[in-house]
Amino acid sequence: MTEVRPRRYAVLTLFPSVIDAYAGVGVIGRAVRDGLASIRAQDIRQFADGPYRAVDDVPFGGGAGMVLQPEPIARAIEAVGPVQRRVLLAAGGRPFRQADAEAWARLDSMLFLCGRYEGVDARIEATYMDDVVSIGDYVLSGGELPALVVIDAIMRLLPGVLGNEESAVEESYHGGLLEFPHYTRPAEWRGRAVPPVLLSGHHGRVAAWRRQRAIARTFALRPDLLASAELTVAEREFLLALKTGRSTEKSEESEP
Ligand SMILES: C[S@@+](CC[C@H](N)C(=O)[O-])C[C@H]1O[C@@H](n2cnc3c(N)ncnc32)[C@H](O)[C@@H]1O
Repeated sequence: MTEVRPRRYAVLTLFPSVIDAYAGVGVIGRAVRDGLASIRAQDIRQFADGPYRAVDDVPFGGGAGMVLQPEPIARAIEAVGPVQRRVLLAAGGRPFRQADAEAWARLDSMLFLCGRYEGVDARIEATYMDDVVSIGDYVLSGGELPALVVIDAIMRLLPGVLGNEESAVEESYHGGLLEFPHYTRPAEWRGRAVPPVLLSGHHGRVAAWRRQRAIARTFALRPDLLASAELTVAEREFLLALKTGRSTEKSEESEP
């Protein structure tokens, strides 16, 4: 098991209350209270000058909207001090992946910069940022939700954050597959029965069924992931049968 070191996440934002609210609840809130990590929201406006502490201005070259000015952000970044990685959240960034969460879970300190309006003056990225990530191919109003998405994905991988460490190992995207379907009581609900193999008590057969369902689900919903999936020879044959339509698999409820 990895040694437990408290992680430090600084989030630069115009709306610190959004970050504070999420940092106080659920799995993340418990981890913060347990001292496994700290999430510090820094209000960029506190580093701005003038009676109105303005942080934005019109874009050079014209166009709609406002741009976050570099100086207040630079001061906020410098007030946080040295960290191991500085990440800008941007709709036009490279896609954030589970593999990033796994790599960043090994770092002790990170800074996240949340944009607003049309975004951040490009000189901030050039001067301070190590990475620019997007959480998906859509445009949100600000970087706060993306920063929380990234921090949440990282923190659930930290030792001790999830009650049972196994649960992160079997989740979607780990090992290039989506997760298998889950069932709980009752064994029969509104005419739908739980797959009998799950009631068999046979761990080997349950594990094989779950792998097959994960492969079938990934094939149906995210075939692009399969290229990096680690599959046994038998699992590759199963995948080939799915591809060629030779598989007898019909539904989530069927057995291997
Ligand atoms: C309205 S958006 C700016 C969009 C920008 N003008 C563009 O076209 O790419 C304001 C801020 O929200 C954040 N943001 C919006 N969508 C995002 C996404 N998909 N991933 C990460 N951050 C996002 C960024 O921090 C961005 O600076």
